[in-house]
Amino acid sequence: MTRTLIRGGLVVNATGTLLGDVLVDGERVAAVTTPGLVTEADRVIEAHNRYVIPGGVDAHTHMEMPFGGTSSHDTFATGTTAAAWGGTTTIIDFAVQARGTSLLSTLDKWHARADRRCAVDYGFHMIISEVTDGSLKEMRQCVDAGVTSFKMFMAYPGVFYSTDGEILRAMQRATETGSLVMMHAENGIAIDELVSQALAAGHTDPIYHGLTRPPELEGEATARAIQLARVTGAPLYIVHLSARQALAAVAQARDTGQNVFAETCPQYLYLSIEDMAKPDFEGAKYVASPPLRTKDHQADLWRGLRTNDLSVVSTDHCPFCFKDQKALGREDFSKIPNGMPGVEHRMDLLHQGVVAGELSLERWVEVSSTTPARMFGLQGRKGVIAAGADADIVVYDPAARQRISALTHHMNVDYSAYEGMEITGRVETVLSRGSVVIADGTFHGHEGHGEFLPRGLSHYLI
Ligand code: URP
Ligand code: ZN
Ligand code: ZN
Repeated sequence: MTRTLIRGGLVVNATGTLLGDVLVDGERVAAVTTPGLVTEADRVIEAHNRYVIPGGVDAHTHMEMPFGGTSSHDTFATGTTAAAWGGTTTIIDFAVQARGTSLLSTLDKWHARADRRCAVDYGFHMIISEVTDGSLKEMRQCVDAGVTSFKMFMAYPGVFYSTDGEILRAMQRATETGSLVMMHAENGIAIDELVSQALAAGHTDPIYHGLTRPPELEGEATARAIQLARVTGAPLYIVHLSARQALAAVAQARDTGQNVFAETCPQYLYLSIEDMAKPDFEGAKYVASPPLRTKDHQADLWRGLRTNDLSVVSTDHCPFCFKDQKALGREDFSKIPNGMPGVEHRMDLLHQGVVAGELSLERWVEVSSTTPARMFGLQGRKGVIAAGADADIVVYDPAARQRISALTHHMNVDYSAYEGMEITGRVETVLSRGSVVIADGTFHGHEGHGEFLPRGLSHYLI
């Protein structure tokens, strides 16, 4: 087995920092030691003036996701390669139940798509699009197969939407199975009405996607989901939280001791509804749900990250090409496929929070790696640099400068939502289970290196 020594870096875990060496033996971390203690290794990676951090865990991605008559443009191969470039060594993607099909056949389908394709390790959540006796029963088999979290939608009536009664039933089943319900919390019934009214008034531009999904309807749905969870005793994880109204509902629930967790995404921390107003249909690049909010929400989200009312940052990476896919909604904003690219830039974008004093170094690692690993049953293996953990490690140069651009990114999409943004810091070397996948500005990994991760129950619920 290859012994790799990562020498002289600042090892950053959620629990603290240590100037030291990391010894990797095969696929695992063997030891974190004071500098110079270990001298023999097959390979030495110098990390002076660098951070040595656990590989990122992006708990919310959509590779090859069917949506609005098309599919997100990154495959499991291209998307996980881009993730590696950005220092993310684990993704948790979503298997999507189509109506009329079972959860287990869905899981088989997604395994077939990802198997031997991924460059880094991956797991699945399951999207429940149809609550039936059969799908509720299958939740247990999903848990046994390592899929321990289920996403439901209060938005997209007629597609993914579940009624409150259906959500209640699924939450009861989640309580029985120890699994975690993830909620897309927007009031889709009210939103659809606003969308119809906007279109009837001739408002077809991308900005109307944002204007017809007001933050109050995210706040309302979040509060409703929380009450349903309270009644059923189910833990709840709010995905892609964007609005202060939703954050207030989460904070209030947490203050009363309820097991409610939430994630936000870089786009809500850095972009705003103004981007959706860009001329020449450029605003379509920023169409995602929930939509980008006015800038004043951003300070609340950063504060939520510090207070732990927001405990995870995921990307909701769901890329659609501007030219061929976003264009489906040129005449009608409601036909623009929802989603934005981002899996490659999460660690860098969050590092800007460290540079700006919004987050400590440890908190950067915690929200991007440690907590998502624990939240989704990968504790011990991922999200930490400690003896016995998988050697998913990033050597990060905090002083490097780079500029984000679609010309240089590795995601399979023809634009960047952060085009031209100057970044302080850069991923230098990436190890995935002990193998060097990024070094010297080159991808050294390969499709199929990434393994499926059967996940346990959430660390926060045991
Ligand atoms: O607009 C988004 N977020 N697209 C991906 C699907 C989802 O709701 O997460
Ligand atoms: Zn969603
Ligand atoms: Zn999503």
